[in-house]
Amino acid sequence: LRSSIGLKVVMAVTGLGLWAYLIAHMLGNLQIFASDPGVFNGYAEFLKSSAPLLWTERVLVFGAMGVHAFVAIKLTRENAAARPNDYFERKVESSTLMSRTMIVSGLLVLAFFAYHILHFTAHAVGGALFEMERVVGGSGSHLRPNAYLMVHSAFKTPWIVALYVVGQIMLFGHLLHGSRSLFQSIGAFRIFRSPVYGPIAAVIVIGVFAGFISIPLVIYFAWPSVGGSP
Ligand code: HEM
Repeated sequence: LRSSIGLKVVMAVTGLGLWAYLIAHMLGNLQIFASDPGVFNGYAEFLKSSAPLLWTERVLVFGAMGVHAFVAIKLTRENAAARPNDYFERKVESSTLMSRTMIVSGLLVLAFFAYHILHFTAHAVGGALFEMERVVGGSGSHLRPNAYLMVHSAFKTPWIVALYVVGQIMLFGHLLHGSRSLFQSIGAFRIFRSPVYGPIAAVIVIGVFAGFISIPLVIYFAWPSVGGSP
């Protein structure tokens, strides 16, 4: 872990874990387009139905982000400190530029993420309708958050749509560049040296981007208003 290769492997493993989370989150969120709001609300309720599972997921996702960011900053500092003045300079310069771009897009993704959690999870900032809905079924009825209304009402406000669109563009750039560094780092292992990985990674990144960005854009431009605006 003290070596720069060890740190790069930590970056790759936490990065891949975050990819897995993003793919699952994006696919789950696409249920917002189901014609029955109960589909998305049932999914949101299910995600929160087990406190141990919910907190395991939170610790893993937040922990992976923290470690990923911390190691990234450490590696960038080490790279900058080790920059030699000989004929390798140009190569090192370009890799420093790449890691600087990654730090900036990574910090912007982190800022988006902080806003997103305050918005949809903590409800600490406005800009969405937060209501409960009563579900009747089986032996009685119970209340659950109307997550469908929350998301639809949020994406009828232009500045929130703009914020989410910018957040997704930052994430897209970060993931696309990140996949390049990922295959550079794990290229140390022979089985990852095949040229097919780059294009596969690019297709996944484009899919994640298209899936996420479609949500605010389709709701804003093409979906009928649900329950008024916040
Ligand atoms: C258009 C894009 C996105 C939409 C519509 C969206 C939607 C949502 C919604 C509705 C929730 C709240 C679930 C609930 O409390 O019932 C949520 C939570 C969350 N989102 Fe997103 N999300 C988007 C993008 C992202 C991105 C890019 C990330 C990561 C960088 C992310 C990470 C999370 C996390 C970690 C949670 C918290 C889960 C928990 O409660 O622990 N989301 N998202």
